[in-house]
Amino acid sequence: MSLRCDQTPQWPQLQAAFSAHGSRLDLREAFASDAQRFRHFSQQAPQVFADLSKNLWDADTEALLLDMARACGLPQHRDAMFAGQPINSTEGRAVLHTLLRRPRGLALPGDGPDIAQNLAEVHTTLDAMLAYADAVRADSSITDVVNIGIGGSDLGPHMAVLALEQFRDQGKRLHFVSNVDGHELHTVLQSLKARSTLFLIASKTFTTAETMTNARSALAWFAAEGGQDVGRHFAALTTNVEAAKALGITTTFGFWDWVGGRYSLWSAIGLPIAVAIGSAGFRDLLAGAHAMDEHFRTAPLAQNLPVRLGLLDVWYRNFHGFTSRCIAPYHAALRRLSAYLQQLEMESNGKRVGLDGQPLAYATSPVLWGEPGTNGQHAFFQMLHQGTDVVPLELIAVRQPTHPLEGHHNKLLANALAQAQALMVGKKGEDGHRHFPGNRPSTFLLLDELSPASLGALIALQEHRVFVSGSLWRINSFDQWGVELGKVLAKDIEARLDSGDAAGLDGSTAGLLERLRTGH
Ligand code: F6P
Repeated sequence: MSLRCDQTPQWPQLQAAFSAHGSRLDLREAFASDAQRFRHFSQQAPQVFADLSKNLWDADTEALLLDMARACGLPQHRDAMFAGQPINSTEGRAVLHTLLRRPRGLALPGDGPDIAQNLAEVHTTLDAMLAYADAVRADSSITDVVNIGIGGSDLGPHMAVLALEQFRDQGKRLHFVSNVDGHELHTVLQSLKARSTLFLIASKTFTTAETMTNARSALAWFAAEGGQDVGRHFAALTTNVEAAKALGITTTFGFWDWVGGRYSLWSAIGLPIAVAIGSAGFRDLLAGAHAMDEHFRTAPLAQNLPVRLGLLDVWYRNFHGFTSRCIAPYHAALRRLSAYLQQLEMESNGKRVGLDGQPLAYATSPVLWGEPGTNGQHAFFQMLHQGTDVVPLELIAVRQPTHPLEGHHNKLLANALAQAQALMVGKKGEDGHRHFPGNRPSTFLLLDELSPASLGALIALQEHRVFVSGSLWRINSFDQWGVELGKVLAKDIEARLDSGDAAGLDGSTAGLLERLRTGH
Protein backbone atom coordinates (compact mmCIF):
# COMPACT_ATOMS: atom_id res chain seq x y z
CA MET A 1 0.00 0.00 0.00
CA SER A 2 1.26 3.50 -0.69
CA LEU A 3 0.81 6.35 1.75
CA ARG A 4 0.51 10.11 1.56
CA CYS A 5 3.73 11.69 2.79
CA ASP A 6 2.28 12.95 6.08
CA GLN A 7 0.86 9.49 6.87
CA THR A 8 4.22 7.73 6.64
CA PRO A 9 6.24 6.85 9.75
CA GLN A 10 9.09 8.93 8.31
CA TRP A 11 7.09 12.20 8.37
CA PRO A 12 7.16 12.62 12.19
CA GLN A 13 10.74 11.33 12.21
CA LEU A 14 11.70 14.03 9.73
CA GLN A 15 9.87 16.62 11.82
CA ALA A 16 11.77 15.46 14.88
CA ALA A 17 15.08 15.44 13.00
CA PHE A 18 14.39 18.95 11.75
CA SER A 19 13.64 20.31 15.24
CA ALA A 20 16.54 18.44 16.84
CA HIS A 21 19.31 19.45 14.47
CA GLY A 22 18.09 19.96 10.88
CA SER A 23 17.06 23.55 11.50
CA ARG A 24 20.50 24.34 12.93
CA LEU A 25 22.61 22.50 10.37
CA ASP A 26 25.60 24.66 9.53
CA LEU A 27 26.98 23.97 6.07
CA ARG A 28 30.43 25.29 6.97
CA GLU A 29 30.68 22.87 9.87
CA ALA A 30 29.19 20.07 7.79
CA PHE A 31 31.98 20.44 5.22
CA ALA A 32 34.64 20.82 7.90
CA SER A 33 33.58 17.62 9.63
CA ASP A 34 32.98 15.48 6.55
CA ALA A 35 35.60 15.36 3.81
CA GLN A 36 33.25 13.17 1.75
CA ARG A 37 30.32 15.59 1.77
CA PHE A 38 30.83 16.81 -1.80
CA ARG A 39 31.35 13.28 -3.01
CA HIS A 40 28.23 12.01 -1.27
CA PHE A 41 25.94 14.78 -2.42
CA SER A 42 27.13 15.14 -6.01
CA GLN A 43 26.57 12.89 -8.97
CA GLN A 44 26.75 12.60 -12.72
CA ALA A 45 23.40 11.87 -14.36
CA PRO A 46 22.98 11.73 -18.14
CA GLN A 47 24.33 15.07 -19.48
CA VAL A 48 23.90 16.78 -16.10
CA PHE A 49 26.35 16.89 -13.21
CA ALA A 50 24.71 17.95 -9.97
CA ASP A 51 26.18 19.20 -6.72
CA LEU A 52 23.59 19.06 -3.95
CA SER A 53 26.14 19.33 -1.14
CA LYS A 54 25.53 23.01 -0.36
CA ASN A 55 22.01 22.22 0.77
CA LEU A 56 20.67 22.18 4.32
CA TRP A 57 20.50 18.44 4.79
CA ASP A 58 22.68 15.55 5.84
CA ALA A 59 22.93 11.89 4.85
CA ASP A 60 20.56 10.79 7.64
CA THR A 61 17.89 13.21 6.46
CA GLU A 62 18.33 12.07 2.90
CA ALA A 63 17.98 8.43 3.98
CA LEU A 64 14.73 9.24 5.82
CA LEU A 65 13.42 11.09 2.77
CA LEU A 66 14.26 8.10 0.59
CA ASP A 67 12.41 5.81 2.99
CA MET A 68 9.46 8.16 2.89
CA ALA A 69 9.50 8.03 -0.92
CA ARG A 70 9.37 4.23 -0.75
CA ALA A 71 6.52 4.32 1.77
CA CYS A 72 4.66 6.70 -0.56
CA GLY A 73 5.03 4.21 -3.40
CA LEU A 74 7.09 6.55 -5.55
CA PRO A 75 8.69 3.77 -7.66
CA GLN A 76 5.29 2.22 -8.35
CA HIS A 77 3.78 5.60 -9.24
CA ARG A 78 6.69 6.35 -11.57
CA ASP A 79 6.33 2.95 -13.24
CA ALA A 80 2.58 3.52 -13.63
CA MET A 81 3.33 6.74 -15.50
CA PHE A 82 5.81 5.07 -17.87
CA ALA A 83 3.41 2.16 -18.42
CA GLY A 84 0.57 4.44 -19.51
CA GLN A 85 -1.80 3.98 -16.58
CA PRO A 86 -4.35 6.81 -16.21
CA ILE A 87 -2.57 8.60 -13.37
CA ASN A 88 -4.12 11.93 -14.37
CA SER A 89 -7.15 10.89 -12.38
CA THR A 90 -9.34 13.98 -12.67
CA GLU A 91 -9.22 13.76 -16.45
CA GLY A 92 -8.96 9.97 -16.68
CA ARG A 93 -5.83 10.21 -18.83
CA ALA A 94 -2.47 8.55 -19.10
CA VAL A 95 0.63 10.76 -18.76
CA LEU A 96 2.95 9.68 -21.52
CA HIS A 97 5.24 12.52 -22.55
CA THR A 98 8.07 10.02 -22.01
CA LEU A 99 6.69 8.03 -24.95
CA LEU A 100 7.38 11.00 -27.22
CA ARG A 101 11.10 10.48 -26.73
CA ARG A 102 11.14 6.70 -26.56
CA PRO A 103 13.07 5.13 -29.44
CA ARG A 104 11.01 3.43 -32.12
CA GLY A 105 9.91 -0.08 -31.15
CA LEU A 106 11.39 -0.02 -27.63
CA ALA A 107 9.24 -2.07 -25.26
CA LEU A 108 9.59 -1.57 -21.51
CA PRO A 109 8.60 -3.94 -18.72
CA GLY A 110 5.06 -3.23 -17.58
CA ASP A 111 3.99 -1.50 -20.80
CA GLY A 112 0.20 -1.15 -20.99
CA PRO A 113 -1.71 -2.67 -23.91
CA ASP A 114 -1.83 0.53 -26.01
CA ILE A 115 1.81 1.47 -25.66
CA ALA A 116 3.19 -0.28 -28.74
CA GLN A 117 0.45 1.17 -30.95
CA ASN A 118 0.87 4.66 -29.43
CA LEU A 119 4.62 4.50 -29.91
CA ALA A 120 4.21 3.55 -33.56
CA GLU A 121 1.90 6.56 -34.04
CA VAL A 122 4.37 8.81 -32.22
CA HIS A 123 7.09 7.88 -34.69
CA THR A 124 4.89 8.18 -37.77
CA THR A 125 3.88 11.68 -36.68
CA LEU A 126 7.44 12.59 -35.69
CA ASP A 127 8.79 11.52 -39.07
CA ALA A 128 6.14 13.58 -40.88
CA MET A 129 6.70 16.62 -38.71
CA LEU A 130 10.48 16.48 -39.05
CA ALA A 131 10.27 16.02 -42.82
CA TYR A 132 8.05 19.11 -42.90
CA ALA A 133 10.49 21.04 -40.68
CA ASP A 134 13.42 20.18 -42.94
CA ALA A 135 11.38 21.17 -46.01
CA VAL A 136 10.61 24.54 -44.42
CA ARG A 137 14.30 24.99 -43.64
CA ALA A 138 15.19 24.24 -47.25
CA ASP A 139 12.54 26.62 -48.61
CA SER A 140 14.31 29.95 -49.01
CA SER A 141 11.05 31.68 -49.94
CA ILE A 142 10.00 31.39 -46.28
CA THR A 143 11.97 33.91 -44.24
CA ASP A 144 9.79 34.20 -41.13
CA VAL A 145 8.12 31.58 -38.97
CA VAL A 146 5.58 32.78 -36.40
CA ASN A 147 4.50 30.47 -33.59
CA ILE A 148 1.11 31.45 -32.20
CA GLY A 149 0.40 29.64 -28.93
CA ILE A 150 0.36 30.23 -25.18
CA GLY A 151 1.36 28.38 -21.98
CA GLY A 152 2.80 25.00 -22.87
CA SER A 153 2.27 25.80 -26.55
CA ASP A 154 4.69 28.71 -26.22
CA LEU A 155 6.97 28.49 -23.19
CA GLY A 156 8.72 25.22 -24.02
CA PRO A 157 9.36 25.84 -27.72
CA HIS A 158 10.32 29.47 -27.11
CA MET A 159 12.73 28.58 -24.31
CA ALA A 160 14.32 25.80 -26.38
CA VAL A 161 14.68 27.86 -29.55
CA LEU A 162 16.50 30.57 -27.58
CA ALA A 163 18.58 28.02 -25.69
CA LEU A 164 19.74 26.42 -28.94
CA GLU A 165 20.38 29.63 -30.86
CA GLN A 166 23.94 28.48 -31.62
CA PHE A 167 22.48 25.49 -33.49
CA ARG A 168 19.96 27.53 -35.44
CA ASP A 169 19.52 27.97 -39.12
CA GLN A 170 20.29 31.68 -39.20
CA GLY A 171 18.43 32.03 -42.49
CA LYS A 172 15.03 32.22 -40.81
CA ARG A 173 13.58 34.56 -38.26
CA LEU A 174 11.44 32.89 -35.59
CA HIS A 175 8.77 34.87 -33.76
CA PHE A 176 6.64 33.83 -30.81
CA VAL A 177 3.25 35.44 -30.25
CA SER A 178 1.43 34.32 -27.12
CA ASN A 179 -0.46 37.18 -25.53
CA VAL A 180 -3.97 38.17 -26.56
CA ASP A 181 -2.65 41.72 -26.25
CA GLY A 182 -2.85 42.88 -29.85
CA HIS A 183 0.30 44.97 -29.41
CA GLU A 184 2.30 41.76 -29.56
CA LEU A 185 0.86 40.34 -32.79
CA HIS A 186 0.64 43.77 -34.40
CA THR A 187 4.32 44.48 -33.78
CA VAL A 188 5.32 41.15 -35.33
CA LEU A 189 2.97 41.48 -38.32
CA GLN A 190 4.44 44.89 -39.15
CA SER A 191 7.76 43.22 -39.94
CA LEU A 192 6.31 40.47 -42.17
CA LYS A 193 5.31 39.81 -45.76
CA ALA A 194 2.50 37.33 -46.38
CA ARG A 195 4.35 35.54 -49.19
CA SER A 196 7.40 34.79 -47.05
CA THR A 197 5.74 33.92 -43.71
CA LEU A 198 4.72 30.61 -42.19
CA PHE A 199 2.34 30.70 -39.22
CA LEU A 200 2.32 27.75 -36.81
CA ILE A 201 -0.89 27.73 -34.77
CA ALA A 202 0.02 25.75 -31.66
CA SER A 203 -2.77 24.72 -29.33
CA LYS A 204 -3.43 21.35 -27.80
CA THR A 205 -7.15 22.03 -27.49
CA PHE A 206 -7.54 24.55 -30.32
CA THR A 207 -10.02 26.37 -28.10
CA THR A 208 -7.71 28.63 -26.08
CA ALA A 209 -9.12 32.15 -26.42
CA GLU A 210 -5.79 33.95 -26.81
CA THR A 211 -4.54 31.60 -29.51
CA MET A 212 -7.80 31.49 -31.42
CA THR A 213 -8.01 35.30 -31.40
CA ASN A 214 -4.43 35.64 -32.63
CA ALA A 215 -4.91 32.89 -35.24
CA ARG A 216 -8.01 34.58 -36.66
CA SER A 217 -6.22 37.92 -36.79
CA ALA A 218 -3.24 36.32 -38.53
CA LEU A 219 -5.54 34.69 -41.09
CA ALA A 220 -7.31 38.02 -41.66
CA TRP A 221 -3.98 39.83 -42.05
CA PHE A 222 -2.75 37.18 -44.47
CA ALA A 223 -5.86 37.59 -46.66
CA ALA A 224 -5.67 41.39 -46.47
CA GLU A 225 -2.00 41.30 -47.54
CA GLY A 226 -2.92 39.28 -50.63
CA GLY A 227 -1.77 35.94 -49.22
CA GLN A 228 -2.90 33.14 -51.49
CA ASP A 229 -2.30 29.71 -50.10
CA VAL A 230 -3.37 29.09 -46.47
CA GLY A 231 -2.37 25.42 -46.82
CA ARG A 232 1.22 26.49 -47.47
CA HIS A 233 1.45 29.40 -45.05
CA PHE A 234 -0.41 28.04 -42.02
CA ALA A 235 0.04 24.80 -40.09
CA ALA A 236 -1.82 23.71 -36.98
CA LEU A 237 -0.14 21.75 -34.15
CA THR A 238 -2.97 20.28 -32.14
CA THR A 239 -4.87 17.29 -30.79
CA ASN A 240 -8.02 18.88 -32.24
CA VAL A 241 -7.39 18.60 -35.96
CA GLU A 242 -11.11 19.05 -36.73
CA ALA A 243 -11.19 22.48 -35.11
CA ALA A 244 -8.11 23.52 -37.10
CA LYS A 245 -9.78 22.44 -40.32
CA ALA A 246 -12.92 24.32 -39.35
CA LEU A 247 -10.76 27.45 -39.21
CA GLY A 248 -9.53 26.70 -42.74
CA ILE A 249 -6.11 25.31 -41.74
CA THR A 250 -5.57 22.07 -43.61
CA THR A 251 -1.90 21.42 -42.87
CA THR A 252 -1.94 19.77 -39.45
CA PHE A 253 0.34 17.83 -37.13
CA GLY A 254 -1.43 15.98 -34.37
CA PHE A 255 -0.68 14.70 -30.91
CA TRP A 256 -2.64 13.01 -28.15
CA ASP A 257 -4.61 13.80 -25.01
CA TRP A 258 -2.02 11.91 -22.94
CA VAL A 259 0.49 14.71 -23.58
CA GLY A 260 0.00 17.52 -21.06
CA GLY A 261 0.36 21.04 -22.45
CA ARG A 262 3.38 21.86 -20.27
CA TYR A 263 4.97 18.53 -21.26
CA SER A 264 4.34 18.95 -24.98
CA LEU A 265 7.50 20.44 -26.48
CA TRP A 266 8.53 16.91 -27.51
CA SER A 267 5.42 16.55 -29.67
CA ALA A 268 4.24 18.47 -32.74
CA ILE A 269 4.30 21.53 -30.44
CA GLY A 270 8.08 21.30 -30.87
CA LEU A 271 7.85 22.06 -34.59
CA PRO A 272 9.37 25.56 -34.19
CA ILE A 273 12.35 23.92 -32.45
CA ALA A 274 12.71 21.47 -35.35
CA VAL A 275 12.52 24.34 -37.85
CA ALA A 276 15.20 26.16 -35.87
CA ILE A 277 17.69 23.31 -35.40
CA GLY A 278 16.65 20.71 -37.99
CA SER A 279 15.45 17.15 -37.68
CA ALA A 280 18.80 15.74 -36.53
CA GLY A 281 19.01 18.31 -33.74
CA PHE A 282 15.44 17.60 -32.67
CA ARG A 283 16.18 13.89 -32.51
CA ASP A 284 19.20 14.68 -30.32
CA LEU A 285 16.93 16.67 -28.00
CA LEU A 286 14.63 13.65 -27.72
CA ALA A 287 17.58 11.31 -27.16
CA GLY A 288 18.89 13.48 -24.33
CA ALA A 289 15.47 13.43 -22.66
CA HIS A 290 15.18 9.68 -23.16
CA ALA A 291 18.54 9.13 -21.46
CA MET A 292 17.23 11.04 -18.44
CA ASP A 293 13.97 9.04 -18.58
CA GLU A 294 15.99 5.84 -18.39
CA HIS A 295 18.01 7.19 -15.49
CA PHE A 296 14.80 8.13 -13.64
CA ARG A 297 13.21 4.78 -14.45
CA THR A 298 16.11 2.53 -13.54
CA ALA A 299 18.67 4.19 -11.23
CA PRO A 300 18.47 3.20 -7.55
CA LEU A 301 16.55 5.89 -5.68
CA ALA A 302 19.61 6.98 -3.71
CA GLN A 303 21.50 7.67 -6.97
CA ASN A 304 18.53 8.94 -8.93
CA LEU A 305 18.95 12.65 -9.59
CA PRO A 306 15.29 13.59 -10.23
CA VAL A 307 14.40 11.69 -7.05
CA ARG A 308 17.08 13.43 -4.98
CA LEU A 309 16.05 16.86 -6.26
CA GLY A 310 12.35 16.15 -5.69
CA LEU A 311 13.02 14.96 -2.15
CA LEU A 312 15.09 18.04 -1.43
CA ASP A 313 12.16 20.12 -2.69
CA VAL A 314 9.84 18.35 -0.22
CA TRP A 315 12.34 18.77 2.62
CA TYR A 316 12.61 22.50 1.94
CA ARG A 317 8.90 23.12 1.43
CA ASN A 318 7.44 21.01 4.21
CA PHE A 319 10.10 20.99 6.93
CA HIS A 320 12.14 24.17 6.42
CA GLY A 321 9.02 25.99 5.23
CA PHE A 322 10.81 27.74 2.34
CA THR A 323 8.24 29.27 0.04
CA SER A 324 10.24 29.83 -3.12
CA ARG A 325 13.12 28.64 -5.26
CA CYS A 326 15.24 30.97 -7.35
CA ILE A 327 16.57 29.79 -10.71
CA ALA A 328 19.77 31.37 -12.03
CA PRO A 329 20.95 29.99 -15.36
CA TYR A 330 24.52 31.13 -15.96
CA HIS A 331 24.02 31.12 -19.71
CA ALA A 332 22.31 33.93 -21.59
CA ALA A 333 20.68 31.49 -24.00
CA LEU A 334 18.73 30.00 -21.07
CA ARG A 335 17.00 33.33 -20.47
CA ARG A 336 13.47 31.88 -20.75
CA LEU A 337 14.21 28.84 -18.59
CA SER A 338 12.75 30.35 -15.41
CA ALA A 339 9.50 31.25 -17.18
CA TYR A 340 9.29 27.73 -18.56
CA LEU A 341 9.99 26.16 -15.16
CA GLN A 342 7.37 28.36 -13.54
CA GLN A 343 4.64 26.70 -15.57
CA LEU A 344 6.16 23.26 -15.16
CA GLU A 345 6.33 23.44 -11.37
CA MET A 346 3.52 25.80 -10.45
CA GLU A 347 0.84 24.58 -12.86
CA SER A 348 1.73 20.98 -12.00
CA ASN A 349 2.07 21.21 -8.24
CA GLY A 350 0.15 24.37 -7.34
CA LYS A 351 -2.64 22.27 -5.84
CA ARG A 352 -4.45 22.55 -2.49
CA VAL A 353 -6.24 19.19 -2.48
CA GLY A 354 -5.00 15.62 -2.65
CA LEU A 355 -6.00 12.95 -5.16
CA ASP A 356 -9.11 12.39 -3.05
CA GLY A 357 -10.18 16.02 -3.53
CA GLN A 358 -9.72 16.81 0.19
CA PRO A 359 -7.72 19.87 1.36
CA LEU A 360 -4.13 19.10 2.30
CA ALA A 361 -2.61 19.86 5.67
CA TYR A 362 0.80 20.69 4.18
CA ALA A 363 2.27 23.04 1.61
CA THR A 364 2.81 22.14 -2.06
CA SER A 365 4.45 24.04 -4.95
CA PRO A 366 6.94 26.74 -4.07
CA VAL A 367 7.06 29.95 -6.09
CA LEU A 368 9.69 29.70 -8.81
CA TRP A 369 11.39 32.78 -10.13
CA GLY A 370 14.70 33.92 -11.49
CA GLU A 371 16.82 35.57 -14.14
CA PRO A 372 20.10 34.64 -15.77
CA GLY A 373 23.31 35.26 -13.87
CA THR A 374 25.13 37.55 -13.77
CA ASN A 375 22.18 39.92 -14.36
CA GLY A 376 20.26 38.65 -11.33
CA GLN A 377 23.28 39.40 -9.12
CA HIS A 378 22.85 43.09 -9.84
CA ALA A 379 19.13 43.01 -9.12
CA PHE A 380 17.73 40.66 -6.48
CA PHE A 381 20.72 38.68 -5.18
CA GLN A 382 21.00 41.26 -2.38
CA MET A 383 17.89 39.67 -0.91
CA LEU A 384 19.33 36.16 -1.29
CA HIS A 385 22.46 37.16 0.65
CA GLN A 386 21.02 39.41 3.35
CA GLY A 387 17.21 39.30 3.21
CA THR A 388 15.07 37.92 6.01
CA ASP A 389 13.88 34.92 3.97
CA VAL A 390 16.05 32.00 3.00
CA VAL A 391 15.56 31.21 -0.71
CA PRO A 392 17.27 28.10 -2.08
CA LEU A 393 19.09 29.01 -5.27
CA GLU A 394 19.48 26.69 -8.25
CA LEU A 395 22.42 27.62 -10.45
CA ILE A 396 22.68 26.10 -13.91
CA ALA A 397 26.05 26.51 -15.59
CA VAL A 398 27.62 25.28 -18.83
CA ARG A 399 31.30 24.34 -18.83
CA GLN A 400 32.14 25.05 -22.45
CA PRO A 401 31.10 28.23 -24.23
CA THR A 402 30.11 28.31 -27.89
CA HIS A 403 31.36 31.85 -28.52
CA PRO A 404 34.95 32.82 -29.28
CA LEU A 405 35.21 35.90 -27.03
CA GLU A 406 38.17 35.67 -24.71
CA GLY A 407 37.87 36.00 -20.96
CA HIS A 408 34.10 36.09 -20.76
CA HIS A 409 33.32 32.52 -19.91
CA ASN A 410 35.71 32.17 -17.01
CA LYS A 411 34.31 35.37 -15.56
CA LEU A 412 30.81 33.97 -15.91
CA LEU A 413 31.69 30.63 -14.30
CA ALA A 414 33.66 32.36 -11.56
CA ASN A 415 30.57 34.39 -10.72
CA ALA A 416 28.37 31.30 -10.55
CA LEU A 417 30.81 29.60 -8.18
CA ALA A 418 31.41 32.73 -6.16
CA GLN A 419 27.70 33.36 -5.58
CA ALA A 420 27.11 29.83 -4.32
CA GLN A 421 30.23 30.11 -2.17
CA ALA A 422 29.29 33.53 -0.76
CA LEU A 423 25.78 32.37 0.08
CA MET A 424 27.18 29.48 2.07
CA VAL A 425 30.36 30.91 3.58
CA GLY A 426 29.09 34.38 4.45
CA LYS A 427 31.34 37.04 5.97
CA LYS A 428 31.63 38.62 9.37
CA GLY A 429 30.89 42.31 8.91
CA GLU A 430 32.11 45.23 11.00
CA ASP A 431 28.45 46.14 11.41
CA GLY A 432 25.06 44.59 10.67
CA HIS A 433 24.86 46.18 7.24
CA ARG A 434 28.10 44.61 6.11
CA HIS A 435 27.44 41.23 7.71
CA PHE A 436 26.71 38.18 5.54
CA PRO A 437 25.16 35.44 7.68
CA GLY A 438 25.97 32.68 5.17
CA ASN A 439 24.61 29.14 5.50
CA ARG A 440 22.24 29.87 2.60
CA PRO A 441 21.58 26.86 0.39
CA SER A 442 22.20 26.33 -3.29
CA THR A 443 22.18 23.54 -5.85
CA PHE A 444 24.63 23.58 -8.75
CA LEU A 445 23.67 21.89 -12.03
CA LEU A 446 26.39 21.70 -14.65
CA LEU A 447 26.17 20.80 -18.32
CA ASP A 448 29.35 20.12 -20.22
CA GLU A 449 27.95 22.03 -23.19
CA LEU A 450 24.59 23.48 -24.09
CA SER A 451 23.42 21.22 -26.91
CA PRO A 452 20.11 19.71 -28.01
CA ALA A 453 20.94 16.52 -26.10
CA SER A 454 21.95 18.25 -22.87
CA LEU A 455 18.96 20.57 -23.01
CA GLY A 456 16.68 17.56 -23.50
CA ALA A 457 18.19 15.87 -20.45
CA LEU A 458 17.99 19.04 -18.35
CA ILE A 459 14.30 19.55 -19.15
CA ALA A 460 13.41 15.90 -18.53
CA LEU A 461 15.26 16.13 -15.20
CA GLN A 462 13.07 19.06 -14.22
CA GLU A 463 9.89 17.29 -15.37
CA HIS A 464 10.70 14.27 -13.26
CA ARG A 465 11.70 16.16 -10.11
CA VAL A 466 8.30 17.88 -10.27
CA PHE A 467 6.73 14.42 -10.57
CA VAL A 468 8.60 13.25 -7.48
CA SER A 469 7.41 16.01 -5.15
CA GLY A 470 3.88 15.82 -6.60
CA SER A 471 3.87 12.08 -6.01
CA LEU A 472 4.86 12.42 -2.35
CA TRP A 473 2.26 15.14 -1.91
CA ARG A 474 -0.34 12.82 -3.51
CA ILE A 475 -1.68 15.53 -5.74
CA ASN A 476 -2.58 15.35 -9.40
CA SER A 477 0.40 17.06 -11.04
CA PHE A 478 -1.19 16.72 -14.47
CA ASP A 479 -4.38 18.77 -14.35
CA GLN A 480 -4.84 22.55 -14.10
CA TRP A 481 -8.40 23.29 -13.03
CA GLY A 482 -7.21 26.47 -11.34
CA VAL A 483 -6.92 28.30 -14.64
CA GLU A 484 -10.56 27.70 -15.62
CA LEU A 485 -12.50 30.20 -13.49
CA GLY A 486 -10.65 33.26 -14.78
CA LYS A 487 -11.23 32.13 -18.38
CA VAL A 488 -15.01 31.90 -17.82
CA LEU A 489 -15.20 35.25 -16.03
CA ALA A 490 -13.16 36.96 -18.77
CA LYS A 491 -15.77 35.91 -21.33
CA ASP A 492 -18.54 37.36 -19.20
CA ILE A 493 -16.66 40.62 -18.62
CA GLU A 494 -15.75 40.96 -22.30
CA ALA A 495 -19.47 41.06 -23.11
CA ARG A 496 -20.05 43.57 -20.31
CA LEU A 497 -17.27 45.83 -21.66
CA ASP A 498 -19.42 46.17 -24.79
CA SER A 499 -22.80 46.47 -23.11
CA GLY A 500 -21.87 48.30 -19.91
CA ASP A 501 -24.08 45.91 -17.95
CA ALA A 502 -22.69 45.77 -14.40
CA ALA A 503 -25.62 43.92 -12.85
CA GLY A 504 -24.58 41.43 -10.20
CA LEU A 505 -20.89 42.46 -10.20
CA ASP A 506 -19.00 43.27 -7.01
CA GLY A 507 -18.36 46.97 -6.36
CA SER A 508 -14.73 46.95 -7.42
CA THR A 509 -15.24 45.08 -10.70
CA ALA A 510 -18.26 47.28 -11.51
CA GLY A 511 -16.27 50.45 -10.73
CA LEU A 512 -13.29 49.39 -12.85
CA LEU A 513 -15.59 48.31 -15.71
CA GLU A 514 -17.14 51.76 -15.76
CA ARG A 515 -13.72 53.42 -15.61
CA LEU A 516 -12.46 51.30 -18.52
CA ARG A 517 -15.55 51.98 -20.61
CA THR A 518 -15.85 55.69 -20.06
CA GLY A 519 -12.47 56.85 -18.78
CA HIS A 520 -14.00 58.24 -15.56
O1 F6P B 1 -4.58 27.84 -19.34
C1 F6P B 1 -3.70 26.81 -19.07
C2 F6P B 1 -3.46 25.95 -20.26
O2 F6P B 1 -4.46 25.01 -20.39
C3 F6P B 1 -2.10 25.30 -20.15
O3 F6P B 1 -2.10 24.15 -19.40
C4 F6P B 1 -1.74 25.10 -21.57
O4 F6P B 1 -0.37 24.87 -21.73
C5 F6P B 1 -2.21 26.39 -22.17
O5 F6P B 1 -3.40 26.69 -21.47
C6 F6P B 1 -2.45 26.37 -23.65
O6 F6P B 1 -3.40 25.42 -24.00
P1 F6P B 1 -3.57 24.98 -25.50
O7 F6P B 1 -2.31 24.37 -25.97
O8 F6P B 1 -4.72 24.02 -25.49
O9 F6P B 1 -3.91 26.21 -26.31
